[in-house]
Amino acid sequence: MLIALLPGDGIGPEVIAQAVRVLEALECGLVFETAPVGGAAYKAAGHPLPPATLDLARRADAILFGAVGDPDCDSLERAFRPEQAILGLRKELGLFANLRPAKLFPELADASALRPEVASQIDMVIVRELTGDVYFGEKGMRRTAEGLRQGYDVMAYDEAEVARIAHAGFKAAQARRGKLCSVDKANVLETSQLWRDVVNEVSADYRDVELSHMYVDNCAMQLVRNPGQFDVIVTGNLFGDILSDQASMCVGSIGMLPSASLDAAGKGLYEPIHGSAPDIAGQGKANPLATILSAAMMLRYSLNLPAPADRIEAAVARALAGGARSFDLGGTVDTEAMGDAVLAGL
Ligand code: IPM
Ligand code: MG
Repeated sequence: MLIALLPGDGIGPEVIAQAVRVLEALECGLVFETAPVGGAAYKAAGHPLPPATLDLARRADAILFGAVGDPDCDSLERAFRPEQAILGLRKELGLFANLRPAKLFPELADASALRPEVASQIDMVIVRELTGDVYFGEKGMRRTAEGLRQGYDVMAYDEAEVARIAHAGFKAAQARRGKLCSVDKANVLETSQLWRDVVNEVSADYRDVELSHMYVDNCAMQLVRNPGQFDVIVTGNLFGDILSDQASMCVGSIGMLPSASLDAAGKGLYEPIHGSAPDIAGQGKANPLATILSAAMMLRYSLNLPAPADRIEAAVARALAGGARSFDLGGTVDTEAMGDAVLAGL
């Protein structure tokens, strides 16, 4: 099975290297091919998502992605900025369903921004829509009638886009504790009113799932007040982006959260939810666990290899139980040594 490795920028190559070590140790017949993406690709090939990289992503059975984002590129025209690479991959490959599980490793209760008794309740999945919303609506800069500069980004969802992510949310809930909370802003936004109506319609197919609705502002509050109430959250692209960063700090660190971005057939791109962290790049300070856990999700969801996926997750738990703590977790264990600790736990 061919795995496309797209390490990207900043700490991306460092965390991908550790995930590859872990995957290689499992000896499950994976073949790796690497291609540049993001700012690295812009610098090497003039585009954040060069055709050869997109081609590799299409050919591969699964994609393991590091991170994109490079301050050197912040003043480029938007089409050439590193972030366009991940947005382009999601759109081109139809990766509309983004699963972001957040669960507290008991060993990390002290690293959570929440009190341990609150944090220990967290075990949820955020199902984030990934190819629509304000991210992909019409956008631009224009002048108002008064001559003022105005930036605009259109938020829009059609009912088919909402229905397919709602199905993904209900299915995720069926496979877990049977509770789905749909998060929107229907008290203000028409996009959200349609979202809520369609989620209610789709719920007719899932009588066994307990559905609730919540406004996104309330959800942000509930995530820190009582995160244990959530099983599966389904939400749009922008709200899911924000809520998943928040959920990550509730489980100790943004360096811990993996994600899967899936198309309708289950092909996927796997990436840590964190960014390229240019401030710590090249210093061995990055936590590779989110990427290693993303590799486990890849084995489980796209490659149908649940046993090695379990082994990785157990090894991460063992590494943490053994005291391995990267800098984001308040420790001093460097990136490679975190990888060593996971390898030792396999
Ligand atoms: C994420 C990231 C991306 C997003 C950026 C890098 C474009 O924040 O995957 O959460 O906003 O989706
Ligand atoms: Mg984000």
